[in-house]
Amino acid sequence: MTGLIDQFGRTATDLRMSLIDKCNLRCRYCMPAEGLDWLKKNDMLTADEVIRLADIAITHLGIEGIRFTGGEPLVRADLVDIIRAVHSAHPQIELAMTTNGINLEKKIDDLVAAGLSRINVSLDTVCPETFAKITRRDRLTKVLEGLHSAKAAGLDPIKINAVLLRGLNDDQAAELLTWTLEHGYQLRFIEQMPLDADHNWTRDNMVTAAEIREQISQVYTLTPHEVPRGSAPAELFDVKSQHTGKVLGTVGIIASVTEPFCAACTRTRITADAKVRSCLFSHTETDLMEVLRDGSSDEVIADAWREAMWHKPKAHGQTTTGLGMPGFVQPERTMSAIGG
Ligand code: GTP
Ligand code: 5AD
Ligand code: SF4
Repeated sequence: MTGLIDQFGRTATDLRMSLIDKCNLRCRYCMPAEGLDWLKKNDMLTADEVIRLADIAITHLGIEGIRFTGGEPLVRADLVDIIRAVHSAHPQIELAMTTNGINLEKKIDDLVAAGLSRINVSLDTVCPETFAKITRRDRLTKVLEGLHSAKAAGLDPIKINAVLLRGLNDDQAAELLTWTLEHGYQLRFIEQMPLDADHNWTRDNMVTAAEIREQISQVYTLTPHEVPRGSAPAELFDVKSQHTGKVLGTVGIIASVTEPFCAACTRTRITADAKVRSCLFSHTETDLMEVLRDGSSDEVIADAWREAMWHKPKAHGQTTTGLGMPGFVQPERTMSAIGG
């Protein structure tokens, strides 16, 4: 089996599948207030097509783990069926999901029974007013219910992804960390990337990893975590009490902009309309829908996927790692349509 190798020597073993472009929140760093032109049903992967692509990725391309994303994956009515089918065909493969947590409470038991083993939940603040400002929806309570139900269902670890936005929650890093430590969730801060619909991102206005570490260090002592990071986007720190020196947990920082990790990237992505995106910041995509629907064999589809990944850019969709630096062009699709 030949895996998904690129011309810079990286091998993709992690698949991120976006199942739907719709979402029930409107986070400012991801979607415009009015939503987007949603994909038409016929242009989206059906459950059977998602299951087939997952099977090809595992059987022919060496994929070792799948993360389902959106938009918001829970908006898709057949999510549990998809997870059940992929898990029963490939029980050794870890199936994870990144979600905003809304409606998670209703689905969590079915998801776990179907074979979901891990979730990451997006949560930028535990202040209801700030939540409503960032997501443009007053639904913090639903997210917290979702999170707690996932813990009750036994998922562990549960990671929380937080993006800090200037003037909204940029002073809440330590407060959010305190809350997650108390509840036993693993917090990771993600530097905001230029993948918003409004093109409001500027490098100067972004809250950097250095600033986040600095803020947290006012309240806690941070020391590098001992386990090597490997290809994970997050750099992990142990969080210690400044009074007792006791380790209270960990915090991760995903410094995609100021400390990029493209050289160690192991990811391949499929959008909800069956395009291979070799990189979050790609300007080209490879369509698999045609070969999925014209009777082509699994091997033909696998070859098209290999070819797409061979041309994965060296970094950030181009040859340099400078997001927002001269020459950087923001991709057309927003984060919501790529899946994070
Ligand atoms: P685990 O560490 O396995 O739990 O998952 P993950 O961190 O890969 O998944 P998650 O969806 O929680 O990703 C967190 C965020 O990290 C993504 O949404 C991106 O913002 C960022 N990220 C993940 N992969 C990449 C990548 O390849 N490039 C860049 N620039 N950012 C990435
Ligand atoms: N920059 C950084 N992270 C983002 N996310 C969404 N948009 C952005 C952005 N512009 C995060 C969400 C979610 C994950 C899939 O990506 O918070 O947790
Ligand atoms: Fe990988 Fe592209 Fe992300 Fe860099 S920007 S880590 S190459 S997906």
